[in-house]
Amino acid sequence: MNDYQFEIQRRATKKEKPAFDQLIFGRNFTDHMFVMDYHADKGWHDGRIVPYEPLQIDPSAMVFHYGQSVFEGLKAYLSEDQEVLMFRPYKNMERLNKSNNRLCIPPIDEELAVQALRQLIAVDRDWVPNVEGTSLYIRPFIISTEPYLGVAPSHQYKFIIIMSPVGAYYKEGINPVKIAVQSEYVRAVKGGTGNAKTGGNYAASLKAQEVAEQEGYSQVLWLDGKENKYVEEVGSMNIFFKINGEVVTPELNGSILEGVTRNSVIELIKDWGIPLSERRISIDEIYEAQKNGTLEEAFGTGTAAVISPVGELFWNNEKLTIGGGQTGEIAGKLYETLTGIQKGKVEDKFGWIV
Ligand code: COI
Repeated sequence: MNDYQFEIQRRATKKEKPAFDQLIFGRNFTDHMFVMDYHADKGWHDGRIVPYEPLQIDPSAMVFHYGQSVFEGLKAYLSEDQEVLMFRPYKNMERLNKSNNRLCIPPIDEELAVQALRQLIAVDRDWVPNVEGTSLYIRPFIISTEPYLGVAPSHQYKFIIIMSPVGAYYKEGINPVKIAVQSEYVRAVKGGTGNAKTGGNYAASLKAQEVAEQEGYSQVLWLDGKENKYVEEVGSMNIFFKINGEVVTPELNGSILEGVTRNSVIELIKDWGIPLSERRISIDEIYEAQKNGTLEEAFGTGTAAVISPVGELFWNNEKLTIGGGQTGEIAGKLYETLTGIQKGKVEDKFGWIV
Protein backbone atom coordinates (compact mmCIF):
# COMPACT_ATOMS: atom_id res chain seq x y z
CA MET A 1 0.00 0.00 0.00
CA ASN A 2 1.44 3.39 -0.99
CA ASP A 3 1.42 5.94 1.76
CA TYR A 4 0.01 9.21 0.58
CA GLN A 5 0.33 12.29 2.73
CA PHE A 6 -1.73 15.24 1.67
CA GLU A 7 -1.10 18.86 2.54
CA ILE A 8 -3.73 20.05 5.01
CA GLN A 9 -4.87 23.68 5.20
CA ARG A 10 -7.19 23.98 8.17
CA ARG A 11 -9.99 26.51 8.57
CA ALA A 12 -9.16 29.30 10.99
CA THR A 13 -12.52 28.88 12.77
CA LYS A 14 -14.85 25.91 12.70
CA LYS A 15 -18.36 26.27 11.31
CA GLU A 16 -21.35 25.91 13.59
CA LYS A 17 -22.69 22.35 13.39
CA PRO A 18 -26.34 21.52 12.79
CA ALA A 19 -28.30 19.60 15.46
CA PHE A 20 -27.45 15.96 14.72
CA ASP A 21 -30.98 14.84 15.64
CA GLN A 22 -32.57 17.08 13.01
CA LEU A 23 -30.39 16.44 9.97
CA ILE A 24 -31.84 16.80 6.51
CA PHE A 25 -30.19 14.81 3.71
CA GLY A 26 -27.48 16.74 1.87
CA ARG A 27 -27.99 20.24 3.31
CA ASN A 28 -24.97 20.65 5.64
CA PHE A 29 -21.32 20.26 4.76
CA THR A 30 -18.26 19.67 6.93
CA ASP A 31 -15.39 22.12 7.50
CA HIS A 32 -13.01 20.72 4.88
CA MET A 33 -12.87 19.07 1.47
CA PHE A 34 -10.29 17.17 -0.57
CA VAL A 35 -9.27 18.61 -3.94
CA MET A 36 -6.92 17.21 -6.59
CA ASP A 37 -6.27 18.62 -10.07
CA TYR A 38 -5.65 16.99 -13.40
CA HIS A 39 -3.89 18.48 -16.37
CA ALA A 40 -3.11 16.45 -19.49
CA ASP A 41 0.58 17.47 -19.16
CA LYS A 42 0.92 16.54 -15.48
CA GLY A 43 -1.66 13.87 -14.78
CA TRP A 44 -3.44 13.96 -11.40
CA HIS A 45 -1.50 16.18 -9.00
CA ASP A 46 -1.62 18.43 -5.92
CA GLY A 47 -4.02 16.40 -3.78
CA ARG A 48 -4.80 18.56 -0.73
CA ILE A 49 -7.27 19.04 2.11
CA VAL A 50 -8.58 22.59 2.23
CA PRO A 51 -11.41 24.50 3.91
CA TYR A 52 -14.84 23.77 2.38
CA GLU A 53 -15.60 26.82 0.26
CA PRO A 54 -16.99 27.83 -3.15
CA LEU A 55 -14.81 26.98 -6.16
CA GLN A 56 -13.60 29.47 -8.69
CA ILE A 57 -14.23 27.98 -12.10
CA ASP A 58 -14.23 29.60 -15.53
CA PRO A 59 -17.76 30.03 -16.96
CA SER A 60 -16.56 28.30 -20.12
CA ALA A 61 -15.45 25.21 -18.13
CA MET A 62 -16.66 22.21 -20.11
CA VAL A 63 -18.64 20.69 -17.26
CA PHE A 64 -21.16 23.56 -17.42
CA HIS A 65 -21.89 22.94 -21.08
CA TYR A 66 -21.55 19.25 -21.86
CA GLY A 67 -21.89 17.65 -18.44
CA GLN A 68 -18.67 15.64 -18.44
CA SER A 69 -18.74 14.71 -14.76
CA VAL A 70 -19.06 11.66 -12.52
CA PHE A 71 -19.81 11.15 -8.85
CA GLU A 72 -20.02 8.60 -6.06
CA GLY A 73 -21.93 8.31 -2.80
CA LEU A 74 -20.83 6.34 0.27
CA LYS A 75 -21.22 6.59 3.99
CA ALA A 76 -19.20 6.51 7.20
CA TYR A 77 -20.70 5.65 10.59
CA LEU A 78 -19.67 6.10 14.20
CA SER A 79 -19.47 2.77 16.03
CA GLU A 80 -20.35 2.27 19.69
CA ASP A 81 -16.58 2.32 20.40
CA GLN A 82 -16.40 5.77 18.75
CA GLU A 83 -14.53 4.39 15.73
CA VAL A 84 -15.36 5.80 12.29
CA LEU A 85 -16.30 2.97 9.91
CA MET A 86 -16.49 3.41 6.14
CA PHE A 87 -18.65 1.00 4.17
CA ARG A 88 -16.95 -0.52 1.09
CA PRO A 89 -15.04 2.61 -0.04
CA TYR A 90 -12.86 0.62 -2.47
CA LYS A 91 -15.97 -0.60 -4.28
CA ASN A 92 -17.11 2.99 -4.79
CA MET A 93 -13.72 4.12 -6.08
CA GLU A 94 -13.66 1.13 -8.45
CA ARG A 95 -17.07 2.20 -9.77
CA LEU A 96 -15.89 5.81 -10.04
CA ASN A 97 -13.21 4.59 -12.44
CA LYS A 98 -15.80 2.63 -14.46
CA SER A 99 -17.83 5.84 -14.75
CA ASN A 100 -14.63 7.74 -15.64
CA ASN A 101 -13.99 5.30 -18.43
CA ARG A 102 -17.49 5.78 -19.87
CA LEU A 103 -17.23 9.59 -19.67
CA CYS A 104 -13.64 9.74 -21.09
CA ILE A 105 -12.26 11.06 -17.79
CA PRO A 106 -8.73 9.93 -16.80
CA PRO A 107 -8.77 7.24 -14.08
CA ILE A 108 -7.86 8.04 -10.49
CA ASP A 109 -5.63 5.94 -8.23
CA GLU A 110 -8.23 4.09 -6.10
CA GLU A 111 -5.85 3.59 -3.16
CA LEU A 112 -4.98 7.30 -3.20
CA ALA A 113 -8.68 8.16 -3.19
CA VAL A 114 -9.40 5.95 -0.16
CA GLN A 115 -6.41 7.39 1.70
CA ALA A 116 -7.60 10.92 0.86
CA LEU A 117 -10.92 9.95 2.36
CA ARG A 118 -9.30 8.57 5.52
CA GLN A 119 -7.32 11.77 6.03
CA LEU A 120 -10.30 14.02 5.27
CA ILE A 121 -12.48 12.13 7.75
CA ALA A 122 -9.71 12.35 10.37
CA VAL A 123 -9.66 16.14 9.94
CA ASP A 124 -13.47 16.45 10.16
CA ARG A 125 -14.02 13.60 12.60
CA ASP A 126 -16.30 15.62 14.86
CA TRP A 127 -18.78 15.90 11.95
CA VAL A 128 -19.60 12.17 12.00
CA PRO A 129 -23.04 12.28 13.64
CA ASN A 130 -23.67 10.08 16.67
CA VAL A 131 -27.48 9.91 16.64
CA GLU A 132 -29.42 6.73 15.66
CA GLY A 133 -30.23 6.70 11.94
CA THR A 134 -27.58 9.26 11.00
CA SER A 135 -24.28 8.93 9.13
CA LEU A 136 -21.65 10.94 7.28
CA TYR A 137 -22.54 10.93 3.58
CA ILE A 138 -19.43 11.21 1.41
CA ARG A 139 -19.63 12.62 -2.10
CA PRO A 140 -16.53 12.18 -4.29
CA PHE A 141 -16.93 13.74 -7.74
CA ILE A 142 -14.97 14.76 -10.81
CA ILE A 143 -15.73 17.70 -13.07
CA SER A 144 -14.17 18.80 -16.36
CA THR A 145 -12.69 22.27 -15.92
CA GLU A 146 -10.97 23.16 -19.18
CA PRO A 147 -12.22 26.53 -20.50
CA TYR A 148 -13.32 25.42 -23.98
CA LEU A 149 -16.59 25.15 -25.89
CA GLY A 150 -15.62 22.42 -28.34
CA VAL A 151 -17.29 19.05 -27.80
CA ALA A 152 -14.35 16.83 -26.80
CA PRO A 153 -12.96 15.27 -23.63
CA SER A 154 -11.54 17.98 -21.38
CA HIS A 155 -7.78 18.21 -20.74
CA GLN A 156 -8.35 19.49 -17.19
CA TYR A 157 -10.36 18.12 -14.26
CA LYS A 158 -10.88 18.47 -10.54
CA PHE A 159 -11.47 15.51 -8.22
CA ILE A 160 -13.21 16.72 -5.09
CA ILE A 161 -14.56 14.98 -1.99
CA ILE A 162 -17.13 16.75 0.16
CA MET A 163 -18.94 15.32 3.18
CA SER A 164 -22.33 15.90 4.74
CA PRO A 165 -23.78 14.64 8.04
CA VAL A 166 -27.17 13.16 7.09
CA GLY A 167 -30.37 11.71 8.43
CA ALA A 168 -32.85 9.56 6.46
CA TYR A 169 -32.97 10.10 2.68
CA TYR A 170 -36.71 9.52 2.33
CA LYS A 171 -39.08 11.04 4.83
CA GLU A 172 -40.67 7.57 5.05
CA GLY A 173 -37.36 6.09 6.41
CA ILE A 174 -37.71 2.30 6.38
CA ASN A 175 -41.51 2.61 5.97
CA PRO A 176 -42.92 1.53 2.60
CA VAL A 177 -43.09 4.08 -0.21
CA LYS A 178 -45.64 4.40 -3.02
CA ILE A 179 -44.19 4.11 -6.49
CA ALA A 180 -45.65 4.97 -9.90
CA VAL A 181 -44.54 2.85 -12.86
CA GLN A 182 -43.23 5.24 -15.52
CA SER A 183 -44.11 4.40 -19.09
CA GLU A 184 -43.61 7.74 -20.84
CA TYR A 185 -40.11 8.86 -19.83
CA VAL A 186 -37.07 6.60 -19.60
CA ARG A 187 -34.00 6.98 -17.40
CA ALA A 188 -31.42 5.35 -19.66
CA VAL A 189 -30.97 3.06 -22.63
CA LYS A 190 -28.58 0.24 -23.35
CA GLY A 191 -25.45 1.77 -24.88
CA GLY A 192 -26.13 5.08 -23.11
CA THR A 193 -24.72 6.12 -19.74
CA GLY A 194 -27.21 4.37 -17.43
CA ASN A 195 -24.51 2.20 -15.87
CA ALA A 196 -22.26 5.18 -15.11
CA LYS A 197 -22.87 7.47 -12.17
CA THR A 198 -23.03 10.74 -14.06
CA GLY A 199 -25.15 13.80 -13.38
CA GLY A 200 -26.97 13.67 -16.72
CA ASN A 201 -28.79 10.46 -15.72
CA TYR A 202 -30.19 12.24 -12.69
CA ALA A 203 -31.13 15.35 -14.70
CA ALA A 204 -32.98 13.06 -17.13
CA SER A 205 -34.94 11.53 -14.24
CA LEU A 206 -36.34 14.78 -12.82
CA LYS A 207 -39.37 15.22 -15.08
CA ALA A 208 -40.81 11.80 -14.31
CA GLN A 209 -40.10 12.32 -10.62
CA GLU A 210 -41.96 15.66 -10.72
CA VAL A 211 -45.00 14.07 -12.39
CA ALA A 212 -45.01 11.16 -9.90
CA GLU A 213 -44.88 13.54 -6.95
CA GLN A 214 -47.75 15.61 -8.33
CA GLU A 215 -49.78 12.40 -8.37
CA GLY A 216 -48.91 11.53 -4.76
CA TYR A 217 -46.10 9.04 -5.40
CA SER A 218 -42.61 9.19 -3.85
CA GLN A 219 -40.65 7.75 -6.74
CA VAL A 220 -40.93 6.14 -10.16
CA LEU A 221 -40.27 2.61 -11.29
CA TRP A 222 -38.23 2.83 -14.49
CA LEU A 223 -38.82 0.49 -17.40
CA ASP A 224 -36.31 -0.26 -20.16
CA GLY A 225 -35.88 2.35 -22.87
CA LYS A 226 -36.38 0.03 -25.82
CA GLU A 227 -39.47 -2.06 -25.25
CA ASN A 228 -40.86 -0.18 -22.25
CA LYS A 229 -41.49 -3.57 -20.73
CA TYR A 230 -38.69 -4.66 -18.41
CA VAL A 231 -38.10 -3.27 -14.93
CA GLU A 232 -34.80 -1.39 -14.52
CA GLU A 233 -34.52 0.77 -11.37
CA VAL A 234 -36.66 2.55 -8.81
CA GLY A 235 -36.02 6.27 -8.29
CA SER A 236 -32.24 6.45 -7.85
CA MET A 237 -32.06 2.90 -6.47
CA ASN A 238 -31.81 -0.69 -7.68
CA ILE A 239 -34.95 -2.78 -7.30
CA PHE A 240 -35.59 -6.26 -5.85
CA PHE A 241 -38.76 -8.37 -5.70
CA LYS A 242 -39.59 -11.53 -3.82
CA ILE A 243 -41.83 -13.75 -5.91
CA ASN A 244 -42.94 -17.14 -4.68
CA GLY A 245 -40.01 -17.54 -2.29
CA GLU A 246 -37.33 -16.37 -4.73
CA VAL A 247 -35.64 -12.98 -4.68
CA VAL A 248 -35.22 -11.49 -8.15
CA THR A 249 -33.49 -8.35 -9.38
CA PRO A 250 -32.92 -7.05 -12.91
CA GLU A 251 -29.63 -8.29 -14.37
CA LEU A 252 -26.96 -5.70 -15.17
CA ASN A 253 -27.68 -5.02 -18.83
CA GLY A 254 -25.70 -1.85 -19.54
CA SER A 255 -28.41 0.63 -18.61
CA ILE A 256 -28.68 -0.28 -14.92
CA LEU A 257 -26.30 1.15 -12.31
CA GLU A 258 -24.19 -1.47 -10.53
CA GLY A 259 -25.16 -0.44 -6.99
CA VAL A 260 -22.79 -1.17 -4.11
CA THR A 261 -25.82 -1.78 -1.88
CA ARG A 262 -27.30 -4.00 -4.64
CA ASN A 263 -24.13 -6.08 -4.61
CA SER A 264 -24.11 -6.27 -0.80
CA VAL A 265 -27.77 -7.35 -0.74
CA ILE A 266 -27.09 -10.10 -3.28
CA GLU A 267 -24.17 -11.38 -1.18
CA LEU A 268 -26.26 -11.39 2.00
CA ILE A 269 -29.26 -13.12 0.41
CA LYS A 270 -27.05 -15.83 -1.08
CA ASP A 271 -25.33 -16.24 2.29
CA TRP A 272 -28.73 -16.75 3.93
CA GLY A 273 -29.50 -19.57 1.50
CA ILE A 274 -32.48 -17.79 -0.07
CA PRO A 275 -32.87 -18.47 -3.80
CA LEU A 276 -31.90 -15.41 -5.87
CA SER A 277 -31.67 -14.70 -9.54
CA GLU A 278 -30.51 -11.74 -11.60
CA ARG A 279 -32.58 -11.75 -14.76
CA ARG A 280 -34.96 -9.77 -16.94
CA ILE A 281 -38.23 -9.05 -15.14
CA SER A 282 -41.16 -7.67 -17.10
CA ILE A 283 -43.74 -5.37 -15.52
CA ASP A 284 -46.36 -7.88 -16.73
CA GLU A 285 -44.69 -10.58 -14.60
CA ILE A 286 -44.89 -8.29 -11.55
CA TYR A 287 -48.54 -7.53 -12.33
CA GLU A 288 -49.38 -11.22 -12.69
CA ALA A 289 -47.52 -12.11 -9.49
CA GLN A 290 -49.40 -9.43 -7.57
CA LYS A 291 -52.71 -10.70 -8.98
CA ASN A 292 -52.05 -14.35 -8.18
CA GLY A 293 -50.71 -13.58 -4.71
CA THR A 294 -47.08 -14.65 -5.26
CA LEU A 295 -45.56 -11.13 -5.13
CA GLU A 296 -44.40 -11.14 -1.53
CA GLU A 297 -42.10 -8.12 -1.34
CA ALA A 298 -40.53 -5.30 -3.33
CA PHE A 299 -37.76 -2.99 -2.15
CA GLY A 300 -35.22 -0.51 -3.46
CA THR A 301 -31.53 -0.55 -2.47
CA GLY A 302 -29.11 2.37 -2.50
CA THR A 303 -26.46 4.08 -0.44
CA ALA A 304 -28.63 6.98 0.60
CA ALA A 305 -31.74 5.06 1.76
CA VAL A 306 -30.02 1.64 2.29
CA ILE A 307 -33.29 -0.36 1.93
CA SER A 308 -36.57 1.25 0.93
CA PRO A 309 -39.62 -1.08 0.90
CA VAL A 310 -42.24 -0.54 -1.81
CA GLY A 311 -45.78 -0.78 -0.41
CA GLU A 312 -47.73 0.19 -3.51
CA LEU A 313 -47.18 0.24 -7.26
CA PHE A 314 -49.34 2.31 -9.58
CA TRP A 315 -49.51 0.71 -13.02
CA ASN A 316 -52.02 1.04 -15.88
CA ASN A 317 -54.44 3.05 -13.72
CA GLU A 318 -54.38 0.36 -11.04
CA LYS A 319 -53.03 0.50 -7.51
CA LEU A 320 -51.21 -2.72 -6.63
CA THR A 321 -50.58 -3.20 -2.92
CA ILE A 322 -47.48 -5.24 -2.11
CA GLY A 323 -47.07 -7.25 1.07
CA GLY A 324 -50.14 -5.63 2.61
CA GLY A 325 -48.36 -2.26 2.29
CA GLN A 326 -46.03 -3.30 5.15
CA THR A 327 -42.24 -3.69 5.32
CA GLY A 328 -41.50 -7.26 4.26
CA GLU A 329 -39.46 -9.78 6.24
CA ILE A 330 -36.46 -9.79 3.88
CA ALA A 331 -36.39 -5.99 3.51
CA GLY A 332 -36.49 -5.60 7.30
CA LYS A 333 -33.79 -8.20 7.88
CA LEU A 334 -31.57 -6.68 5.17
CA TYR A 335 -31.95 -3.22 6.67
CA GLU A 336 -31.08 -4.45 10.17
CA THR A 337 -28.12 -6.51 8.95
CA LEU A 338 -26.65 -3.89 6.63
CA THR A 339 -26.97 -1.01 9.09
CA GLY A 340 -25.71 -3.37 11.81
CA ILE A 341 -22.56 -4.15 9.78
CA GLN A 342 -22.17 -0.48 8.90
CA LYS A 343 -22.21 0.51 12.57
CA GLY A 344 -20.03 -2.37 13.74
CA LYS A 345 -22.86 -4.11 15.64
CA VAL A 346 -23.11 -7.14 13.33
CA GLU A 347 -20.08 -9.25 12.41
CA ASP A 348 -18.51 -8.04 9.14
CA LYS A 349 -17.85 -11.47 7.70
CA PHE A 350 -17.43 -10.15 4.16
CA GLY A 351 -14.70 -7.63 5.10
CA TRP A 352 -16.73 -4.63 3.93
CA ILE A 353 -15.72 -2.20 6.65
CA VAL A 354 -12.64 0.05 6.44
C1 COI B 1 -27.91 6.19 -3.82
O1 COI B 1 -28.65 6.04 -2.89
O2 COI B 1 -27.06 5.34 -4.09
C2 COI B 1 -27.99 7.37 -4.68
O3 COI B 1 -27.40 7.36 -5.70
C3 COI B 1 -28.79 8.53 -4.23
C4 COI B 1 -28.11 9.84 -4.42
C5 COI B 1 -28.17 10.27 -5.84
C6 COI B 1 -28.67 10.87 -3.49
